[in-house]
Amino acid sequence: MEPSSFSLPLSRRPRRLRQNQATREMVREIRLAPEKLIQPLFVLDEESAREPIDSMPGIDRLGKKELIEELEQLADLGIRGVALFPKIDSSLKTETGREAATNPEGIIPSLARLVKEKDLPINLIADIALDPYTLHGHDGIVDPASGEILNDPTVEVLAEMAVNYAEAGVDWVAPSDMMDGRIGVIRDALDDSGLANTVIMAYSAKFASAYYGPFRDAVGSAPPIGGKYLDKSSYQLPPTNVREAMVEVDLDIHEGADIVMVKPAGPYLDIIRRVRERCELPVAAYQVSGEYSMIHASAQKGWIDYKSARNESLTAIHRAGADLILSYFSKEVASS
Ligand code: PBG
Repeated sequence: MEPSSFSLPLSRRPRRLRQNQATREMVREIRLAPEKLIQPLFVLDEESAREPIDSMPGIDRLGKKELIEELEQLADLGIRGVALFPKIDSSLKTETGREAATNPEGIIPSLARLVKEKDLPINLIADIALDPYTLHGHDGIVDPASGEILNDPTVEVLAEMAVNYAEAGVDWVAPSDMMDGRIGVIRDALDDSGLANTVIMAYSAKFASAYYGPFRDAVGSAPPIGGKYLDKSSYQLPPTNVREAMVEVDLDIHEGADIVMVKPAGPYLDIIRRVRERCELPVAAYQVSGEYSMIHASAQKGWIDYKSARNESLTAIHRAGADLILSYFSKEVASS
């Protein structure tokens, strides 16, 4: 059948700008540049190792040799930041995590010294929180009597941890613990130790999320009690509360954060937009492990197209206002 000759008298036809690839490229509003992407990496205190993580297809825990190789590849691709997460031997875990977190010979300081010798054009970012080091998997110190996560004693250890990491060569510290007052105390501790150039990227609006499950497998922070669905709602934000998130962001900025972060990213695009409009600092967003693994799992089932879902998820986060994106897809996207 011939198409009808019906014709609308339209002067505005938005489809004119979508009629071919060249035009679409010219009017495209945003682009995922490699220097805006940060790759999280899981690391082991071993000379050489590569351990796959079941719940995170395509992501391995890396030993020292593999980490250096990975960093060289990422730097060549134009990626300028990596976030390191350690999986430590369970025999090194303690109730408070203090010993491992503040040990200058610990896994992160040792790796930082090793990497710094290579002088790669890539910033080393390290999480500041106690969960990889505590037996119970919480980010802070737990009062044995009440079970309460103790704010101020935790902040004291976090500041020591940040100085320990920065002295070894970590370029950015990223407090992810959500204790009150930690940014100010960490800033002072760094400055008092002659580390005024260390950047603080604050996990400011970090929500108590179901999407952290695969990460807890990766760092082995799922404790015997509570498992990987451990409840952190006495310190992480409730997913219902936007204004409360803004209070956290304002405090972190006031206390000296250089970059503020929203986490998770995809389910919190409204928060990213609010933070972007609220301040003039760079805004980071963390597309977390569960967001990554959901895309993989449904693509494996043939329910969505992997590459387009991956790119769309990152585009949405960038479009919402994130200047920097932490994503397990970073390397792949930078190489495509
Ligand atoms: C812990 C930390 C978590 C993540 C980054 N740092 C997990 C948690 O709070 O339990 C999650 C990242 C991810 O899921 O990819 N301080």
